[in-house]
Amino acid sequence: MENDLKKYDKDGKPLNLIPTANRTRQSNWIEKYYEDPSSVEPSDEDIKCELQLTSLTAFEPLNFLINFGNFRKEIEPYKDKWTPYLRREGVSNDREALLLVGMEGDTAETHSSRPEHIRRAGRWLYEDEFNHPTDLYHDLKSCHELLNYWNPIGRTFIVKTNAGGWFPPHKDEPLLNRRCFRVAAFIGTNVDHESFEWEIDGKVWPIKQNRAYYIDTRKTHRTHSFANDSYHLIMNIPKTWENVMKLMTVTRYF
Ligand SMILES: [Fe+2]
Repeated sequence: MENDLKKYDKDGKPLNLIPTANRTRQSNWIEKYYEDPSSVEPSDEDIKCELQLTSLTAFEPLNFLINFGNFRKEIEPYKDKWTPYLRREGVSNDREALLLVGMEGDTAETHSSRPEHIRRAGRWLYEDEFNHPTDLYHDLKSCHELLNYWNPIGRTFIVKTNAGGWFPPHKDEPLLNRRCFRVAAFIGTNVDHESFEWEIDGKVWPIKQNRAYYIDTRKTHRTHSFANDSYHLIMNIPKTWENVMKLMTVTRYF
């Protein structure tokens, strides 16, 4: 049945379905500690970086603004290349993506999510192992000031949520030894409260169109879209002291 939105997207394309996440296993930190204490141990640099990052709000505005007119022209040639993003078995969720930084040989059309990459690679992948810019990265000049500020960056992609697209409550990587932190830019006209909400730490934060934010995704967050074409540029920034200092340098309020 081609209109079953749990198996096909709204254009009738079959979805690359991924089983629902096993959150109980993924967050079994005590078992990971018993198996290999080093897997959950923070380094001195982790502690230094994470302590500094706590000086920022959960949703901290940065100085970067994307020119949406240019973005729209640059992304137009990719309009038929959006791939369904991390579609879970048995769940209807209209979100699509284009990849900007992936693994060797990836293009904008390669499935962007980490579980899909892990399934293809047959092994665990860290966000900072993704370090190959795609065709779209090069073409998306409107985002170069923001993208090239961090060099190198990890897995980076644009999610486009449509009406009814959502992310359930989750934490990205809550331990002190996470290898990347997240910066996101909300691009276009459908990213403010009339079209989209990002709730984190129990609060819906105001979003200014086309602005970039540091987001403390160690804390529980969830999102919903009420309109189509809500563009979110999601970047994984390697968590080094240098990058934390770079981040502190571009916060909007000081
Ligand atoms: Fe997240």
